[in-house]
Amino acid sequence: MKLIAKTLTGLETVLSKEIEKIGGKNIEIVKRAVVFDGDLELLYKANLHLRTAIRVLVAIKSFDAKNEDELYRKAKEIDWTEYFKLSQTFSIDTNVTSDVFRHSKYVAYKVKDAIADRFREIYGRRPNVNTYDPNAKFNIRIHNTTVEISLDSSGTSLHQRGYKVESLEAPLSEVLAAGILLNTGFTTKKHFFDPMCGSGTLLTEALMININMAPNLMRDHFGFMNWTNYKERLWKDIKEKAQEGIVQPSIIFSGSDISRKAVFATKKNLSILPYGNDVAIVKKDFFKIESCNENPFIIMNPPYDIRLKEDEIIQFYKKIGDKLKQDCAPCDAWIFSGNITALKQFGLKPSKKIKMMNGKLDAELRHFSIY
Ligand SMILES: C[S@@+](CC[C@H](N)C(=O)[O-])C[C@H]1O[C@@H](n2cnc3c(N)ncnc32)[C@H](O)[C@@H]1O
Repeated sequence: MKLIAKTLTGLETVLSKEIEKIGGKNIEIVKRAVVFDGDLELLYKANLHLRTAIRVLVAIKSFDAKNEDELYRKAKEIDWTEYFKLSQTFSIDTNVTSDVFRHSKYVAYKVKDAIADRFREIYGRRPNVNTYDPNAKFNIRIHNTTVEISLDSSGTSLHQRGYKVESLEAPLSEVLAAGILLNTGFTTKKHFFDPMCGSGTLLTEALMININMAPNLMRDHFGFMNWTNYKERLWKDIKEKAQEGIVQPSIIFSGSDISRKAVFATKKNLSILPYGNDVAIVKKDFFKIESCNENPFIIMNPPYDIRLKEDEIIQFYKKIGDKLKQDCAPCDAWIFSGNITALKQFGLKPSKKIKMMNGKLDAELRHFSIY
C-alpha cells in the first residue's frame, strides 16, 4: 500500500525519520506530507507511533481532471465497494487549491454522487453518509487539476492523543510540540525545564519521547477500526508491544508558570501519563527564579501575544534573554515563538534557527548556547 502521513509545514524531515524508524519503505518527502510504502501492520504502527503525523492516509487513486464531469466520471471508475459495504457509512473530506475547482463543497458533492451511483448500479441502493464516525472517510485532495483520492485511517486528528484533559489559551498542538522537540535533537543527558509551561504540551511530549511511550497509546479510537478488514488481534499485539517498550525516565523533568491555572492544567495533563506525577510543576515567575538547575536543557514558548503592544513584547523577550544569561548559564536554551520581531531582540546570538509555523503564523525555533 502507498501510505501518506500528513504533517505541518517544517516537520516533513523529522516525520520521515520517524517513518524510517518504524520500518517505512520508499520514503518520499512532499509538501506537508511524507509518502511511503507499508502494509496493514505498518499502517497501525504509523497511527500509534508517529509523533509528528496529523493523519495517515491510504492512497486509492490519483488522476487528472479538467472539470467536474471528468472528476465524477473518473471517481466513478473506482471500485468503492472494496473499501466499505452498502450497509456501512462514508464521508468525504476535501482539500482543494485550484483555479479549476473553486468550491470544495461541490467537489465533495460530485465525488459523493460518484460513490452513490457506483453502489446503486451494483445493488440498486446507495450507502449513507455519516460525517461524525463513518466506516470509511475519504480524503480528496485537488491541486490545480491533479486529484488524489485516499482513505483516512486515523479518523480524528492524531494530535488528539487522549491525555489532554485541561487546555488553556494558545496551547501548542501536540504534533507541533513533538516536532519542536524532535527538531531540537532533544538529548537525554540534561535536566529538562520549561519555565513558561502553559498547559504543559512540551513537557508531556518530551516525557513521552524520553520514556519511549508511543504518543497515541492512550487514544482509544482510530478510523481503521471501522473498516471491514480491521484486525483487532494485530492491533492489540502492536499496542501491547508498545506498552512493554516504555522505560523509566532517564532525566529529570520540571516546569513552572506564572499562572496558577497553567500549573493546574500541566499537573492534570501530566498525571495521566506514566511517571507524570514525578514531574515537579510550580507556580513561579520566570524572572524571579534564583537559579536554574545545573546545565539544564531549557525550552520555552513565551507569550507572543499580538494584543500586547509591540515594544512591550520586545522588552519582555529582551528580559528573557538577560535572565537566561544572568541566572541560567551554562545552559542550552531553545525558544519557540510566533513573534519573530521579538525573537530578534533577544540580545543573544542564536547558534541555530529553524523556520516553522504555528497555525497560519510564521514561527521560529531558536537555539542559544549560553556559557
Ligand atoms: C504561549 S503560552 C505557553 C503554551 C504552552 N507551550 C502550551 O503548549 O500550553 C505562554 C505561557 O507563559 C506564561 N508566562 C508569561 N509570563 C511569564 C513569566 N514571567 N513567568 C512564567 N511564566 C510566564 C503564561 O502564563 C503562559 O502560560
